[in-house]
Parts: sequence; C-alpha cells; structure tokens
Amino acid sequence: MVVLLWFTAVFGAVPLVACLLWWWNDIWYGLVMATRRLTKGGTKLPPGHMGLPIFGETFTFFWYFKFLRRPEDYINFKRHKYGDGIGMYKTHLFGKPSVIMCTPAATKYVFRADESFKLEFPNVEILGNNSILSVHGKAHMRMKSFISRSANQPDALRRIAQAIQPRIISALESWAQRGNINSYNQVKKVTLENIGMYFASIESGATLDRIAGYYATLVKGLRSYPLNVPGTTYYGALQCRKMIIAIFKEELKKRKMETNRPINDVLDELMNLKDEDGSRLTDIEVLDTIIGILLASFETTSLTTTWAIYYLAKYPKVLQKLRDENMTLKNEKQGQLVTSEEILKLKYTTKVVDETIRMANVAGYVFRRATKDVTYEGYTIPKGWNVILWLRYLHTDATNFDDPMCFNPDRWDAPMAPRTLQVFGGGSRFCAGNMLARLQIALFLHYLSTGYKWKLVNPDAKINYLPHPKPEDGVKITIEKL
Ligand code: HEM
Repeated sequence: MVVLLWFTAVFGAVPLVACLLWWWNDIWYGLVMATRRLTKGGTKLPPGHMGLPIFGETFTFFWYFKFLRRPEDYINFKRHKYGDGIGMYKTHLFGKPSVIMCTPAATKYVFRADESFKLEFPNVEILGNNSILSVHGKAHMRMKSFISRSANQPDALRRIAQAIQPRIISALESWAQRGNINSYNQVKKVTLENIGMYFASIESGATLDRIAGYYATLVKGLRSYPLNVPGTTYYGALQCRKMIIAIFKEELKKRKMETNRPINDVLDELMNLKDEDGSRLTDIEVLDTIIGILLASFETTSLTTTWAIYYLAKYPKVLQKLRDENMTLKNEKQGQLVTSEEILKLKYTTKVVDETIRMANVAGYVFRRATKDVTYEGYTIPKGWNVILWLRYLHTDATNFDDPMCFNPDRWDAPMAPRTLQVFGGGSRFCAGNMLARLQIALFLHYLSTGYKWKLVNPDAKINYLPHPKPEDGVKITIEKL
C-alpha cells in the first residue's frame, strides 16, 4: 500500500511539475494581467506560449533555428496553432516577456509608433550607452544625420566607391591565385579593410585582424542570454568590447596629440562634431559611435555579399544576365574605376542586390520595448515588454512573395505588395547605411562577375541560422579567372 502511494505520488507529481514549468510564464503573466484587469480593464494578451521560468521559449526557438534548421516553422507553428489572425504572438525570449509581430501591417504599426515603442537592443551594454542604437531623441537624430551624411549620401558614396575598388580588385586576384577559399572569411576581410580604412583609417594587418576576431564574438553576444559569467557568450562579448575600446582609445590618444590634424576619415569628423551647444562629443561617445557604425555595417554587408556569391553559383542564368550587364559597363570604362552613379544605375545588378538582401535576411528580427500599455487589434502589449519585429518572416512568407525561397531577381520587375519588404527596417530607425550596403555589394559583384567564375565546394551545405543565417561551410568555393 505504501509502495502504491509512493508510486502514485512520484508519477503523478512529475507530469504535474513538468506541466507547471512548461506553462509557468503563461500562468505567471496571466495572473499579472488578471490583477491589472481588475484595476484597468482591457488587458487581453495576444495568443501564444510563454514557456518555462527564466528561459521562456528559448529552447523552442533553438529547436527550430538550431536543430531543425527551419526557422520559418517557429512562426508557422504559431500561425497554425493560434490562427493566422494579425500576426501577433506573446512569448518569452531573450530573457524578457515579449510580443512577436510578423505581418506587414503589424510591423509597420510598431515602426511608426515611435513614442510607444523604443528601440532597445537586448544586450545594449555590449554596444555601449552612447551608440546610435542606444540613444534616443535629439542625440539619436544628430548621430543619424551625421552617419547618413558621412556614409550614405551621394557625395559620400562617390568618395567611398573610389576608395574601396582597389581593395576589391586585389582581393579577388588573390582569391583566384589561391583557387580555393572560404568566401565568408575572405569577404569579411576585404569588407573590414574597406570600412576600417574609410571610417577610421585602420590599415590591413594585425590590428584589423584582432578587431575582426573581437567583432565576431561581439555580434554573437548581442543576441545571447545575458549571463555575465566566464564561459558564456555574453561574457565573451563584453570582454571583446573592452578590447575594441582599448584599440580605439589608443587611436584617439594618438590623434589628439597631433596638432592641426586634417579631417581624414569618419573618426576625425566625429572627434570634431559639435552638439547644439557647441560642445564636442566625449571620448566614450566617439568610441561607442564608431564601434556601433562598424558593427552595423561590417557583419551585415559581409554576410549579404557572401550570400550573393552563394546564390549566383546556384543560379547560373541569373549570373549570366548579371555578367552581361556588367561586361557592357566594364568595356565602356576601359580599365578605369566605375563611379557610384554608374554602378547604382545598372538595372539588373540592382535587382540581384535587392533579391540577395531579401533572401539573406541578415537582420532577421529587430527589437523594441513598449514604453506604455499599447492596444493593437484588441490585444494589449504591456508596458516594459519587448516587441520583436520578425522581419525575416515577412520576406519568406508566400503570402508576401511568390515562391519566396526561389532566388529570382526578376520578381522586382513588378511592384511588391505594400510593406512586405522591410530588410532595412522602418520608421525613424531605418538603416543609415542602406545605400552604402547596396553600393558595396554591387561593386563587388561587378568585379566578381566580369573577371571570375566559381563553383560551390559544398552545394548542399547545411544552413546555420544563429546568430545570423549562413551556410555551415562559410561558402567554400573554387575560383578562377574567366
Ligand atoms: C545588407 C546590409 C544591411 C542591412 C540588411 C541592414 C539592416 C538594418 C536594419 C534592419 C536596421 C534597423 C534596426 C532597427 O530597427 O532596430 C538598421 C539600422 C542601422 N544600420 Fe543598417 N543594414 C545594413 C548595412 C548597413 C551599413 C553598411 C551601415 C553603415 C553605415 C549601416 C548602418 C546602420 C545604422 C547606423 C543603423 C541604426 C539606425 C538608427 O538607429 O537610426 N547599416 N540596419
């Protein structure tokens, strides 16, 4: 009898505890909202599952992104279970209760409602409190217009186009000499050399290599669980931030000691930038800003360029059309460098670049925090919760794009459905380097397509989706001159 009771207690308790844990956050936040309803009313949470204590849906997210490698099914499952509805689901991810928004209308609503939803990067201390991604209001507008002016507007693009071509040309030549390369590593190298030179005059060599290594860990830390304990990704990222700060601090010190130093790069411009009261930025503001710009531009551009190499190898007809268009320009130029205007005017190349950016989805989701209780379509997004705009789902949902996983630049001949393409975000936080990114990728494709042929070493390589989508082998290719 005692044994029977013991068995019943143990085997009854285990499933009960498991269920309790599985629904822990749903129960907890359900109770919180029920209490608030008594005083405020109208606090219906969106459908969804909030999962385990502390970890929330982290394991489910990993399950789809890391193990099944079917990231879209994370949302598809929610759509199937809770209904297509308005594309809004409650969850608990990256350490916080959150609402996922994954339709064109819902994401647009959040992007536009600036006052109600503030950009809040999950692990902002990795970026620094003064980075453009961390500041708001006037400070944000000042930084935004500075970055756009120095990196994204026609004058800047013209200068950058001239500055970066020699490195692209020589990088490609060295790839062909080696014959066999890892595209991601090599594209990262040339991209960092280019932006490192343009933004902070850092020559290629040991320092740049160290920066590249630190950035790789920093990027991983941005979306990691914020556990500051040696051995965790988050801890590693914070250490790397310290190393990068030390490198740039040394550079600032050197520059400050030079008298009458001319303005040579974006770092010099930043050091001379004044706010509305005429005061210069503090050192830490300069450092956080330059680190933020490099972060926003380096990984995004390198990865998207890597994806272009991958897709063009898989779609030879697209490559041929791209090559034909670029050959015409090459022949016209007779060995001279092309200009930003010339390259950005190429119609098919522009479509290839846009299609690559859509499919690469390197900014798969972006974060906001609700600054007050917001009601959208009858559901409440409580103050303090994260709002995750699941941009990649917009770009891979067949409702928005026909045959969305097919690399088809010609789809851009027809106007796309409104708000379905949000690769560069939206609202006041719209990417400050969208034209620079397009320019860099287009210039790279110009020299690649007109001078080289290449093949994927592992055409069936699996795709990793965390921290960003990338073929597992880094897109290894064999490459030779045409
Ligand atoms: C394919 C390449 C790129 C993609 C897909 C991309 C995507 C994005 C997205 C989605 C955002 C919005 C983030 C948010 O709303 O939370 C953003 C912001 C930003 N991007 Fe890009 N980006 C790319 C390249 C670049 C480059 C080359 C630069 C260089 C200047 C840059 C600078 C920035 C900055 C400074 C912001 C913050 C804007 C703000 O907070 O107002 N990006 N980017």
